[in-house]
Amino acid sequence: MLVPLSLILLIDIVGSYFVVRHVANDVYDVELNEIAREMLLHVTHNKGEMGFDLAPEAERTLLLDKEDQVYYAIRTMDGNLIAGDPTLPVQTVIKSGKDTAYYDGVLQGQSVRVALLRGQPLLHPATEPVMIQVAETQVKRNRHERALLIQLILPQVLLILIAGILIWRGVAHGLAPLRKLQQEVGMRSHLDLSPIAADNVPGEVEPLVGAVNDLMTRVDAVLGFQGRFIADTAHQLRTPVAGLKAHIELALRENDLTQVKRALGHLYTSAERLSRLVSQLLSLARNEPNNVAVNFAPFDLNQLALRAAQEWVPLAYKKQIDLGFDTAGQPVLLNGEAARVTEMINNLVDNAIRYTPPGGRVTVHVRQDEHAHLIVSDDGARIPVEERTRIFERFHRLLGSHEEGSGLGLAIVHEIATLHNATITLEDDVDGVGNTFTVSFPVSHAPG
Ligand SMILES: Nc1ncnc2c1ncn2[C@@H]1O[C@H](COP(=O)(O)OP(=O)(O)O)[C@@H](O)[C@H]1O
Ligand SMILES: [Mg+2]
Repeated sequence: MLVPLSLILLIDIVGSYFVVRHVANDVYDVELNEIAREMLLHVTHNKGEMGFDLAPEAERTLLLDKEDQVYYAIRTMDGNLIAGDPTLPVQTVIKSGKDTAYYDGVLQGQSVRVALLRGQPLLHPATEPVMIQVAETQVKRNRHERALLIQLILPQVLLILIAGILIWRGVAHGLAPLRKLQQEVGMRSHLDLSPIAADNVPGEVEPLVGAVNDLMTRVDAVLGFQGRFIADTAHQLRTPVAGLKAHIELALRENDLTQVKRALGHLYTSAERLSRLVSQLLSLARNEPNNVAVNFAPFDLNQLALRAAQEWVPLAYKKQIDLGFDTAGQPVLLNGEAARVTEMINNLVDNAIRYTPPGGRVTVHVRQDEHAHLIVSDDGARIPVEERTRIFERFHRLLGSHEEGSGLGLAIVHEIATLHNATITLEDDVDGVGNTFTVSFPVSHAPG
């Protein structure tokens, strides 16, 4: 604030100077004009000769001044001196409509103010007009000017000074809550992501505090998610690892080769289960929407779904499940990552076959309207309505299922759908039994 305030003060001083000078000149110029007019009375005209007749006593009285020297000169219109001081600086320009001009000049090394009057000698109205110059040194003008200037500027300087102090204190007062805020944030633990209190901050800063709080909430959510994920994962891994250890201990104690082989068989199954869990965990991490750089390209969903479903035929056959594929009859073009979509189909078909009892039916459909739909339906036991959103959560499994599983498959399906801006719905099968998972993708308009 110091720079603009000083600038205002400077402009103020310069402006005041000009105003004051004008006022002082106005007052004293009138006096000079009066002297000149008085002199016009004493211009004479005798036998064609212009003259000036003023008694020395009267001249002294007329020109007397306590502080300044006053000079005069009387000339004909051609500039010939009639009486007075020949060294007075001449300027003959008088604005039209006026009979007097005032100007600054230099006389005998002193700066003077000059009044120039053009007029008819009053006692000789028939003669040519004359020019009368009256010059005065500027001592009293300067003194007057200085006094006026001080009277004018001093209160203004004081005013600006007071304003400066008030602004200084106001800003310091206004910023005090910010300083408190800074200390509060500076002293926080990096683990404390609770919102910053915004009650005491100035209104202008409130949106900033709001935005920071918003960010903290989001970071808190992500950190919380990751913390829970690590805890869940560690918990999920502990059981199978403990199982492996138990089987190994059993095998080590056994002397009978057949028993050892049996234990090794269990060991193998446990290892396989563990390996599946680990690969599902990796898949979940790989498809986490916040951590993934997706690499979209056009592909045919119809063909992709057919190929993925075919891979499951041997397993379905083994479980006596009728696995069918209901084609769209034409290519269904999608923009996405084919590998991830294959993974999604595998998880859905795996569930359908796994949770449908032998003799059941599983069908993979591809259909297109304003969206591209991938549908996996089965006629197994229905998933209760209240579970239909929860089964998409990580590690969530229905109670009472005797099938193996990690509870991650549908969470992965959900992530991959999100990556593709697709939505998943889960409905009863058409005849009121079984489950139908529908993934609806936005249709790609990419050529070819
Ligand atoms: N097609 C289905 N039919 C019946 N239940 C299902 C089906 N798909 C999923 N579920 C239920 O949802 C749960 C979560 O599935 P998922 O996330 O794939 O984990 P997992 O299959 O490893 O248990 C399963 O445990 C199962 O109870
Ligand atoms: Mg599953």
